[in-house]
Amino acid sequence: MSRRRMVYEGKAKILYEGPEPHLLVQYFKDDATAFNAEKKAVLDGKGVLNNRISEYMMTRLGEIGIPHHFVKRLNMREQLIKKVEIIPLEVIVRNVAAGTMAKRLGLEEGERLPRAVVEFCYKKDELGDPLVAEEHISAFGWATPPEVDDMVSLALRTNDFMCGLFAGVGIRLVDFKLEFGRLFENETVRTILADEISPDSCRLWDMDTNKKLDKDRFRRDLGGVTEAYSEVARRLGILRDSGDGADVVDFKGGSK
Ligand code: C5P
Repeated sequence: MSRRRMVYEGKAKILYEGPEPHLLVQYFKDDATAFNAEKKAVLDGKGVLNNRISEYMMTRLGEIGIPHHFVKRLNMREQLIKKVEIIPLEVIVRNVAAGTMAKRLGLEEGERLPRAVVEFCYKKDELGDPLVAEEHISAFGWATPPEVDDMVSLALRTNDFMCGLFAGVGIRLVDFKLEFGRLFENETVRTILADEISPDSCRLWDMDTNKKLDKDRFRRDLGGVTEAYSEVARRLGILRDSGDGADVVDFKGGSK
């Protein structure tokens, strides 16, 4: 890897300074963590797959007018992104009861919700990213009310689009998490989609079998994590089939 200045290291990604001041390089690691990093592993090829899947999702969303930070993929593990000020919230959209919502409200996992539900969590590892209300967000100044409105409307548009996209390849979009950032351009500030959209941040179930094709395979020790992520990439048409059944992707792909 080249000697660039690291700007931030997260659990699954690293941000480096980009070629221009308003750009960053987002590097996807193979590291997997769950339960606030209590559970850790290295999953060969996960970073390569998430780089490709996130590129695909952001590009498709851009085509329907959702503003995002993705500029271009640089190589197997890196993409160029716009530098934003991350809003310290995780925006979760749910279509089907699962995970912490099922537990919190005593719902059966797999139960379809009456409508899409948007939740906010405060991004604070020490506190385990607690669920918060809009009242907390404005009272503590994490985001302004117009920014909250922007995030809800962008999250719901993203949900509608991604539900259709995944349904087209036989996958049910159960829930997912988004992060947003403030993009400062001239005298204006805009709320745009940031971070990543990948099987690390979505729950994706096969529509016929309910097989989990996402990070729950890691969280719940189901095995076959990268195989499931490859399956998602293959169905979306991101991975080519080499003809002998093997996917054409260089899992060892480095930073160049
Ligand atoms: O765990 P929970 O049910 O709250 O997760 C809801 C959705 O948000 C899941 O798709 C999960 O993968 C995603 N999520 C995430 N990062 C977190 C918390 C949740 O990507 N820190």
